[in-house]
Amino acid sequence: MSNEKTINEPTILVVDDDEITRSIVSKYLESDGINAITVSNGHEAILVCKKRHIDLAILDVQMPNMNGIEVARRIDPVPVVFLSHVENSETILEAISERSLGPRAISYLVKPISKEETIRAIRAALGVAHELEEMQRLLETSTHALENEKRALSREIHDQVGQELIGIYVDTKAIAKTTSDRVDIKEKTDRIINSVDTIQRTIGGIIHTLYPEDLDTLGLRKCLEMMITQWNKRFQECEAKLLISGEIDELENNVDVMIYRTVQEAMNNIGKYAKAKNVAIELRRRKGEDDEGYLFSSKDILQLSINDDGEGFDIDEANLGIGLRGMKDRVKVLGGSFKIDSKAGRGTKIRVLIPFD
Ligand SMILES: Nc1ncnc2c1ncn2[C@@H]1O[C@H](COP(=O)(O)OP(=O)(O)OP(=O)(O)O)[C@@H](O)[C@H]1O
Ligand SMILES: [Mg+2]
Repeated sequence: MSNEKTINEPTILVVDDDEITRSIVSKYLESDGINAITVSNGHEAILVCKKRHIDLAILDVQMPNMNGIEVARRIDPVPVVFLSHVENSETILEAISERSLGPRAISYLVKPISKEETIRAIRAALGVAHELEEMQRLLETSTHALENEKRALSREIHDQVGQELIGIYVDTKAIAKTTSDRVDIKEKTDRIINSVDTIQRTIGGIIHTLYPEDLDTLGLRKCLEMMITQWNKRFQECEAKLLISGEIDELENNVDVMIYRTVQEAMNNIGKYAKAKNVAIELRRRKGEDDEGYLFSSKDILQLSINDDGEGFDIDEANLGIGLRGMKDRVKVLGGSFKIDSKAGRGTKIRVLIPFD
């Protein structure tokens, strides 16, 4: 490792098992005022990214033990530029189009590299990295704003419409009592009472969809248990089992909402599409040390997995609807990782990891 960061200059991590390449790339970058930190393998790269802010990583695609694609995966959310020899053009194309990296895989450089070409490509990549960061910030702001808006709306409906309905119900009951000898009036009051009941149930559903209010009063554990009990009643041909372990009763409200919504969306999908016989939902809080070298491995980790044994589907970005995209975005906003694994005929697995101190 070399060099400390100068204020306002970007810091780039160069990961290559070849010492000469590391030194050439870092020299080029530093000649243009960019801080370069060099390491020779993926494990060191992960350690650096854990400790400090890295604006961009340049990754050799072919390295022993952990290749560039795997390093890129594990240093999420750091954006990357791949580096490889011209004779390995196929692997570099594979790396740059790796789906799990999404837009974080910005571009690639082919060895041998010239100074001008390197600086030009890296400056351009830094520009894209900056835009990605802005988009992430925007996503965070809009997700929070949307959640707050939904919560306010649900309160408004509950307090205003709900109260009015109770008023109508009480008044109608009173009318029915004082006119109990009038069959014609009774018919009408019964109808009003039935309508009020239907409206109350409908808006109860809307309120709950907008914001799972019970989370504030009953807590996440109880709400999930209730959701799964309801789900099992509705989909009797399938059995969903919920397993919760570790301390999850004092999570921040936005984490509660994210977990609740993720399970809700996933269970909706399983009910609608999976034709599953069994679903296992597991929510676990654990120490993060053993966490496969992810960037947040030193913290506590909340792990949610939802596995069904149904038909599965072909995961393609194009197939993702609002449900799955929403899950991904919510998890991202909390700095976590979201993985979905599914193959036709082989069920679907969703795995969410959320780090926290
Ligand atoms: N557990 C699952 N088993 C089988 N197919 C699934 C499963 N989950 C999702 N899918 C498939 O993925 C698609 C996208 O799901 P997603 O929740 O993103 O959108 P949607 O359910 O179609 O619409 P929305 O959730 O916005 O109402 C679904 O249309 C379905 O084909
Ligand atoms: Mg859905």
